[in-house]
Amino acid sequence: MEWRQGLGTTPFPRADPEINSLLTEIYRTGTVHAADGTEIKFGTGGATPALASELYRLVRAHRLRRTLEVGMGWGLSGLAICQGLRDNGGGHHVAVDPGQTTIYRSVGLLNLRRAGLGDLVQLFEEKAEFALPDLLRRGEWFDLTFIDGWHLHDYVMLDLFYARQLVRAGGWICLDDTWMPAVSRTVAFALRNLSMLALVERNDNYCLLRKLNRPDDRAWDHFEEF
Ligand SMILES: C[S@@+](CC[C@H](N)C(=O)[O-])C[C@H]1O[C@@H](n2cnc3c(N)ncnc32)[C@H](O)[C@@H]1O
Repeated sequence: MEWRQGLGTTPFPRADPEINSLLTEIYRTGTVHAADGTEIKFGTGGATPALASELYRLVRAHRLRRTLEVGMGWGLSGLAICQGLRDNGGGHHVAVDPGQTTIYRSVGLLNLRRAGLGDLVQLFEEKAEFALPDLLRRGEWFDLTFIDGWHLHDYVMLDLFYARQLVRAGGWICLDDTWMPAVSRTVAFALRNLSMLALVERNDNYCLLRKLNRPDDRAWDHFEEF
């Protein structure tokens, strides 16, 4: 598809074939395999090679240890993030995905185990709207939150609302699928209204924000058109 070729404001970084051999094979064939060996063509339903490279490089460059993803799917983003954690010497990856068993046939988790990364992952098979407030209530925090769950605008806004609070100051939030208005409008809201979030990278594939060490000092009635 055209949007995957780099139409954004910044050229996509080149996909790095060296991240992880399973991920390379998945991108080469466009398929993943279920537990019984059945081949599944995943189409466009997962992080692009460029985004996988970006996630891996982010985790490595800043030596991230605690990561969270909303929407595990076939495990493409999870492979990139967890390989980064492994290459950093270890870490903890929390994945939230209500459809991992029922829709995705546990392939995401299986792929992480096949790649020898399963020990890094904790999966919550429930909707983000339940799991994220629970994580926050328990005082969990993350260096990076990757948002790629239910793509309706209000759900993406909700994911960002919690991600902003779950990510430590200086940490990152990455939103997939900025070609979708539901996501790009969420980013627009954030950049106009949330001064603690700074834009690092935006293209038609994904957006990377950094959380600054700045309080949320908006007045109760603050609102900027976006
Ligand atoms: C596009 S897929 C994720 C692809 C994955 N990040 C990858 O790169 O392979 C979207 C995922 O969001 C999950 N999802 C759907 N509704 C959700 C919700 N309310 N909360 C969290 N995840 C949800 C789906 O089950 C699916 O696994």
